[in-house]
Amino acid sequence: MAIELTGEQIEAFHRDGFLALPALSTAAEIERLRAVYDRLFAADAGQYGGDHLSLATADADGRQRLPQIMNPETYAPELLETEARANAAAVAQQLLGPDITRAGDHAILKPPRYGAETPWHQDEAYWNPGFDHDAISIWMPLQEATIANGCMQFIPGSHALPVVQHRLADPDAHALVTLDPVSTETAVACPIPAGGCTIHHCRTLHFTGANNTDDPRRAYIMGFSAPPVKLPEPHDYHWQRVEWTA
Ligand code: NI
Repeated sequence: MAIELTGEQIEAFHRDGFLALPALSTAAEIERLRAVYDRLFAADAGQYGGDHLSLATADADGRQRLPQIMNPETYAPELLETEARANAAAVAQQLLGPDITRAGDHAILKPPRYGAETPWHQDEAYWNPGFDHDAISIWMPLQEATIANGCMQFIPGSHALPVVQHRLADPDAHALVTLDPVSTETAVACPIPAGGCTIHHCRTLHFTGANNTDDPRRAYIMGFSAPPVKLPEPHDYHWQRVEWTA
């Protein structure tokens, strides 16, 4: 049975630009997904298809501090047949309307102790500037997510902002960061259990801290989009014209 959000949850999402849910999947499914996830990262899935994009520079020992696999379902089609996905799609319809499409999955790993932070950004800053987007990311950790291992943090209400100026966080990595530092007094951290999720709008400012624990922090992210609105003149997302080397 798919999740049905309460009126209060829907209202909170539209007011704050994010929402946390305690359970998108079951413990048994999360255990299976964790095995698939670890297999994909162990095999460097996507390395030759352009789907393995690092979000931070390697450390002094050459270790990837924030490896990311785009479109993991290409390498493990069983990821398309999960209870988590059915629930995520149901939630997306309730938040974005009936006319949603999948907007891409990705998996971001923060290795124990040396997993790097993901700097403050809006997801839409990465996307096609010829459109205004109305989309969400459903971020599901495959173990408990805490402040210590890098749970999601949000600025409430920031989804009402336009896409702010961004820059490349590092010339050798594939992450954007806001040009002006984000004022974090109002930031809300969202620790959640394994198989829970946070949901954020593509304009909501968000961040995850470094992983300061002895266990990996595995996050699986499912994107959903309402039809984007084509603009007569594209936005000037100049940060997208800098060449990515990683
Ligand atoms: Ni993001």
